[in-house]
Amino acid sequence: MNIWLMGGLWVVFFLLVSTALFFFAATRGALVLRGLTADAACDKSHVYPIYSNMRLIKLVDFQPVISAILLFQYHHLVARIVRELRSVDLKNRNLLITSCAFGNVIPRVVQAAVQAGAGRVLVTDIIDNELVHARSKVGDLSAKVEFIEDNATAMRQPDGVAAANVMFFLLHELPHRLKRQALSEAGRMLAPGGKLLLAEFHRPDVRVLRAMSWLYFKVFEPLGLALWNTHDPLDCLESMGGWTCQRTTYFFGNFQIIVATRQ
Ligand SMILES: C[S@@+](CC[C@H](N)C(=O)[O-])C[C@H]1O[C@@H](n2cnc3c(N)ncnc32)[C@H](O)[C@@H]1O
Repeated sequence: MNIWLMGGLWVVFFLLVSTALFFFAATRGALVLRGLTADAACDKSHVYPIYSNMRLIKLVDFQPVISAILLFQYHHLVARIVRELRSVDLKNRNLLITSCAFGNVIPRVVQAAVQAGAGRVLVTDIIDNELVHARSKVGDLSAKVEFIEDNATAMRQPDGVAAANVMFFLLHELPHRLKRQALSEAGRMLAPGGKLLLAEFHRPDVRVLRAMSWLYFKVFEPLGLALWNTHDPLDCLESMGGWTCQRTTYFFGNFQIIVATRQ
């Protein structure tokens, strides 16, 4: 084989392995280490350093990287959420965003809400650095936004505070016992007729993709696999009662958006 081609293949291999090791260290690896220390008991113990350390947040939060992690479906998922938001009457009412996320989802959702005449946009997260980072993305729109440190599983917001609530890829990172609690809190904070817009991973329909996805979750995000069965968010919402739900899947079933309307 040509020596240049051989060299190139080694460089690609090295880059892939280093990236995987970096992500493992900044996600599951750190949680395994944390589990061995006293920190393991606090309500932030499930949060990866990639979301709490400002240097790591800034290092990782690049749109192409984030889009690639979501198999280039990020744009479609955000576009759907924005479209759904436009169908909610937000005039002088509040939009809640339950937990920050990388990429442009926060500015796009905030912009859609402000354009729809929302009274306030409440951006919440359990990690202050995530809120500081989110604030840096919304620019002039921040006049309409409140950034609030709060725990999605035990929120300090009053009942019925929001006309819509966006939860973007939070559930798969929560310990199982907290997944249902986060959904229950989401419902409590919605006014009657309000909408929960939830984006998450879903069990892929295609066997190859399912195998790859299974491997990804086992290595990096083991809390996510339960969304395929025991903690399917649609099943959880329907079993709670008081919701009308509609699920759409994307990219051979690998992702889902649930639009759940509070009765
Ligand atoms: C919503 S997920 C987003 C993951 C996804 N990979 C992304 O960035 O597109 C990560 C966010 O959830 C936040 N988070 C984790 N647990 C939380 C909780 N119990 N309450 C509120 N926010 C939480 C983290 O601090 C982080 O900002």
